[in-house]
Amino acid sequence: GNRIGRVLTALGAAALSTVLAAGVAPAAATASGGVGAPGIGDPYYPDYGNGGYRISHYDLDLDYRPGNDHLAGTATLTGRATQYLTRFDLDFALTTDAVTVNGRPARFARSGDHELVLTPARPLHTGQRMVVRVRYHGVPSTVTAEGFTSWMRTADGAVAANEPEISWWWYPSNDHPLDKASYAIDVTVPTGYQAISNGILAGTQPAGNGTTRWRWRESRPMATYLAVLAVGHYDLDTSTDARGRPVIEAYDQGLSKDHALYARASVGLTASVIDWESSLFGPYPFESLGGIVPNYEAGFALEDQTRPMYGLDFFETSFDPYVVVHENAHQWFGDSVSVHHWSDIWLNEGFAGYAEWLYSEHVGAGSALSVALADYDAHPADDPLWSVEPGDPGAKHQFSDAVYDRGAMALQALRDVVGDRTFFGILRAWAATHRYGNGSIPQFEWLAERLSGRDLSQLFDTWLFSTGKPPRSVFHLPAG
Ligand code: ARG
Ligand code: ZN
Repeated sequence: GNRIGRVLTALGAAALSTVLAAGVAPAAATASGGVGAPGIGDPYYPDYGNGGYRISHYDLDLDYRPGNDHLAGTATLTGRATQYLTRFDLDFALTTDAVTVNGRPARFARSGDHELVLTPARPLHTGQRMVVRVRYHGVPSTVTAEGFTSWMRTADGAVAANEPEISWWWYPSNDHPLDKASYAIDVTVPTGYQAISNGILAGTQPAGNGTTRWRWRESRPMATYLAVLAVGHYDLDTSTDARGRPVIEAYDQGLSKDHALYARASVGLTASVIDWESSLFGPYPFESLGGIVPNYEAGFALEDQTRPMYGLDFFETSFDPYVVVHENAHQWFGDSVSVHHWSDIWLNEGFAGYAEWLYSEHVGAGSALSVALADYDAHPADDPLWSVEPGDPGAKHQFSDAVYDRGAMALQALRDVVGDRTFFGILRAWAATHRYGNGSIPQFEWLAERLSGRDLSQLFDTWLFSTGKPPRSVFHLPAG
């Protein structure tokens, strides 16, 4: 066997996860007196997520009217208390009508613009199963939280897709990647409209009064921000990939001829891109795949689990395979292995960015190293790219070029030091050992050091945890 296999076998899975967990303090803010903390403990976003419980399943039963952007429904959250709880929070910005906890009516109150404080009729004890049912309604496009609105209104519908905040606008949650869960998302819309979400389409059925219910199921753990909803008039392209997994691509029927052409030429590559990425990163972690292209210039694309959303911006003048490579690389790096805290965003964007450079290499458009060097040379020492630490960019710079570009350069630098065989072994071991969970940058550094047998602290410090342009010589040009 190879070095990586030997190391993993020697450590054993249990020992490995123990070591991986070491050095990263459990984040949940401590709470006392039976009050669940209003945040899960993320230094960038102290009030995101909550303390005192974990959710394992979301069951959303929603009704959406595209005509007036009215959303109403019931969310049923199943989980467990992790401490004695007389009170706990959900993250939510729409109007709550009624709440039950374990079948009994609970008191609820709004705190700030995206926090819902619940007082169950009977306190929950540590480890107790909890079923929280929230009935609610609202017009999501009119709702502002933290000074912005995230719900996107299209000509004939809406799209819920954003990062790191989107769930507040359409369902109550423990809104942080640390608390992942499976989802059942049922959305009733006027017949003739389509409602697209994550995972498998379990069916569509008439729901009375000229409406149709769309039933989606995502069985693998999913971070709250990766739940997507798109309602409008969509063409659904359905097929199966080489391994028999359902592929569902949804293209807005309102796309111009050119947009439709470029979008289909790009997102239509999804199955083959995932096949290629599987050869690099290990087995695709999910049961279904696809994409959603609304007729909307969102200004970004998002790696919604199994079904990324692509803003029209990417398909204005030509097809773009790179954005498809990027969003689907996130299925491994971001979706299956999610950030521990949002400060770990390099593990998402640096990796998805580097996947694009690998694709360039794959299609003969220039090696990843040549792309890295060109990118390095294109950013002079005074470029803002060098003033942000990709390993701790701050909430404001979470999606800055430093995280993407300099972050991808960091992986090229790692590859140059450890060699191809070990480098790709590290990527696969990372995806495998943290599958369906979370990972932090210190854990990745630990794994890379174990598998390469090298002290990589200087490399990580240079690329991730310092400002200033590193010397060009840090790229170790392969000999010969
Ligand atoms: N994770 C997304 C990507 O694949 C970035 C989303 C940024 N969000 C935003 N609203 N701009 O690059
Ligand atoms: Zn990305």
